[in-house]
Amino acid sequence: AGAERGDHDHFLAKEIAEQPRAIERTLSGRLEERFSTAHLGGLNMDVREARAFRRVTILGCGSAWFAGELGAQLIEDLARMPAHAEPASEFRYRNPVVEPDTLYVAVSQSGETVDTLAAVQELQRKGARVIGIVNVVGSTIARQVDGGIYLHAGPEMSVASTKSFTSTVVAFALLALHLGRMRDLSPSDGGRIVAGLAALPGQIEQILDDEKRTGVIAAAAAELAPSESVLYIGRRHGWAVAKEGAQKLKEISYCHAEAYAAAELKHGPLALVGPELPTVAVVPDDDLAEKNTSTLAEIRARRGPVVAVGHREIPGAGRTLVVPRSEPELDPVLLSIPLQLLAYHAAVALDRDVDRPRNLAKSVTVE
Ligand code: G6P
Repeated sequence: AGAERGDHDHFLAKEIAEQPRAIERTLSGRLEERFSTAHLGGLNMDVREARAFRRVTILGCGSAWFAGELGAQLIEDLARMPAHAEPASEFRYRNPVVEPDTLYVAVSQSGETVDTLAAVQELQRKGARVIGIVNVVGSTIARQVDGGIYLHAGPEMSVASTKSFTSTVVAFALLALHLGRMRDLSPSDGGRIVAGLAALPGQIEQILDDEKRTGVIAAAAAELAPSESVLYIGRRHGWAVAKEGAQKLKEISYCHAEAYAAAELKHGPLALVGPELPTVAVVPDDDLAEKNTSTLAEIRARRGPVVAVGHREIPGAGRTLVVPRSEPELDPVLLSIPLQLLAYHAAVALDRDVDRPRNLAKSVTVE
């Protein structure tokens, strides 16, 4: 295994570093600059069929679910279709209303997660159209669905998903672009997303290189690691980024982490905030930046330590992990990278079994 890990101490570090290439492969041959759209041959769907859908429901487990939440926002933003994501494990047991004009998307890195597969089968039994966003070619879910998008992110060995998470968000951006350009997304907005997607690999490279040079994220992780609990907050796209960030920390460092919508803080978790509870805040430089700054002021007033992830130094944060700016719809991809590294370095600092965390499996094939 040492050789497969190359220069890296862990598969997780290798897979974080592979993200520029993984995303290049997800994008490969799928961007159509001439029409400012995405070409997705694997969907097996003509324009008339694709236009008939009025809603999108996304199903997955764990990080696939959180990637699906970002996917739902991309579809709402770019295609202006109502979209939501939920855990496949819940969906399959709640006798959901299945409508013919809803497009269902099953998300799974492995293509073997039993709850996601069962949700697909239940949907198909009710006549629904289900597509997959899957990494492993020829896997059970990939074979079961009626078409879809392969990530081509390459094998992911570490239990905690990293490159499959960001590649999934990119695949959703392609799907959203594709659906959007058949509807109301203008050629210029389509072109903006095409260019934004093409720039992502280089921008991720930049985040990884900056960290190699400065070690800022590793330093922030060393400070966070001894905490009993860490709060992750964000608004809108930043909230799903926070959820995945908290998930990474929990999985590999065993440090308790909870993600909360920043504006909901005052309805509960603020009672916990103080010097003992650090907050990781996802603060992109968007139209909600000011609101985020005032939330951070609330936390600082209670002497809560703050690590921010954003596009420039954030006032009120002890440290800011700065990432390059993308298009607002695509920012979550870049904002997720420092949170992966933060969890990784915290787990290393605590001497955890980074690639094989206790009690967890890479894919859960039994209930
Ligand atoms: C397990 C893994 C997670 C993964 C989830 C869904 O819980 O530990 O990292 O996100 O399964 O896996 P899938 O292969 O369906 O994406």
